[in-house]
Amino acid sequence: MESPKIAAKYPAAVNLEQGTYLWCACGKSNNQPFCDGSHQGSGIFPTVVKTDVKKEVYLCQCKQTKNKPYCDGTHRTV
Ligand code: FES
Repeated sequence: MESPKIAAKYPAAVNLEQGTYLWCACGKSNNQPFCDGSHQGSGIFPTVVKTDVKKEVYLCQCKQTKNKPYCDGTHRTV
C-alpha cells in the first residue's frame, strides 16, 4: 500500500447537504477533498461520509488526520 499524498496543508471547509460523500484518503484526487477514483491501484480507499443534516465541516487535506475524514490539526506538523 502506498502512503497518502499530502493534497494541501490546510483543511477544506465545505457545506455538506444531506447525503453520502466519498472523502479522498489517498490525496491524489483532482477534486479535493472528495474522491475522483485516482486511488485505483494504490491500496488506499475513500472514506464514506454520511450526513442527515446540512452542515459545515472541515475535511482533512493533508491525509494524516487521526479523525478521518475531519481535520484534527495534524497538518500543522507535516
Ligand atoms: Fe483519493 Fe479516491 S481519489 S481515495
